[in-house]
Amino acid sequence: MDAIDVIVTKRDGRELSVEQIDWVIDAYTKGVVADEQMSSLAMAILLNGMTRREIGEWTQAMIRSGARMDWSALPGRTTDKHSTGGVGDKITLPLAPLVAACGGYVPQLSGRGLGHTGGTLDKLESIPGWRASLSNQEMLDVLGEAGAVICAAGDGLAPADKKLYALRDVTGTVESIPLIASSIMSKKIAEGTGALVLDVKVGSGAFMKTVERARELATTMVELGTDAGVETVALLTAMDRPLGRAVGNALEVAESVEVLAGGGPDDVVELTVRLAREMLQAAGLSGGKDPEQALKDGSAMDVWRRMISAQGGDPDALLPKAAETLEITAPSSGVLAGLDAYGVGLAAWRLGAGRERKEDPVSFGAGIMLHARPGDLVREGQPLMTLHADETSRFERALAALEGAYVIGETADPGLLPLVIDR
Ligand code: URA
Repeated sequence: MDAIDVIVTKRDGRELSVEQIDWVIDAYTKGVVADEQMSSLAMAILLNGMTRREIGEWTQAMIRSGARMDWSALPGRTTDKHSTGGVGDKITLPLAPLVAACGGYVPQLSGRGLGHTGGTLDKLESIPGWRASLSNQEMLDVLGEAGAVICAAGDGLAPADKKLYALRDVTGTVESIPLIASSIMSKKIAEGTGALVLDVKVGSGAFMKTVERARELATTMVELGTDAGVETVALLTAMDRPLGRAVGNALEVAESVEVLAGGGPDDVVELTVRLAREMLQAAGLSGGKDPEQALKDGSAMDVWRRMISAQGGDPDALLPKAAETLEITAPSSGVLAGLDAYGVGLAAWRLGAGRERKEDPVSFGAGIMLHARPGDLVREGQPLMTLHADETSRFERALAALEGAYVIGETADPGLLPLVIDR
């Protein structure tokens, strides 16, 4: 077997055999297949697609490239959520402790932001002292103590995906449903969760811009999870506007703490509660404490505090703040018809909330606070949003990203997606 044989098979639109798939994933992980060969194969997959059999075997080969985690020592069932990523999507932060407060164990392996979408680990690292890297034993200890843990995946988990994802990121081969589905599901299956709820985002701020593409991705991932014995459910949810009012690392932590304290924006609360119920149901844990109750009675907040402290963070510490702010006001009176998720995400990224290269640091305080949401009445001169950055020099490029991102009209845009589009 050699790499050219595998590349040519896919280039010519033929199906890869299980032997070809197993060989190429193993050889790439070991460095026998070179990056330029794998990037050529990834492009052939993006252009010619894969059958369901190929996607399943590709996923299994990536799982086998590393270790599988095992939570059988825990006294209860594990359940997890994965979002395909969006703007202002801080849901994991209140959700993991909320589900733990209702009886589930949540081993949440998360990622960092790249491009205009934020990453859960970058957000949590704005809490002084908090540590993202834990050994397997530390994960188990935090899970046992708090019921939930949010941390980085260790190097041993699906290493083939780690290498391939970094390569796809720089070769224009991210937007392939077989490659996205196998990438996400190889990590989630290797993580060893018993149940999984996928939050597949749709809209300008998401990977999937249309409901049809999102549905295809969701269906593929649910089939992969189900075939691997993981109880898997997917929701399609709106990412045509940002979630909540806060976009940016520390700003989103503060909003998540508001939700855990029983407040917070309606859409963040609604989606958090809905996903919590789905996670509990998928794990066969419905019928215990209801998530809405756990937000009201403070039990989800108690888990949050235990989880943050167990990972070295101080839940009472002041969060970092950006040095500079700039207010954007409404240019006319009317209804805020729309607020484009991509424009807001790009602006937050340019303010310093995201990174341009993988090795760049993020600014914890940078981001955007939204003072009006689509459908709100606004008066001319009223603040629409506040930009936060460490240097005033960042405002110009952020303002350029926001051009055309907010529209004031007579009514809310009738094309806005419902928060939960489908299950
Ligand atoms: N997230 C992943 O983990 N992999 C992808 O390919 C896309 C998003």
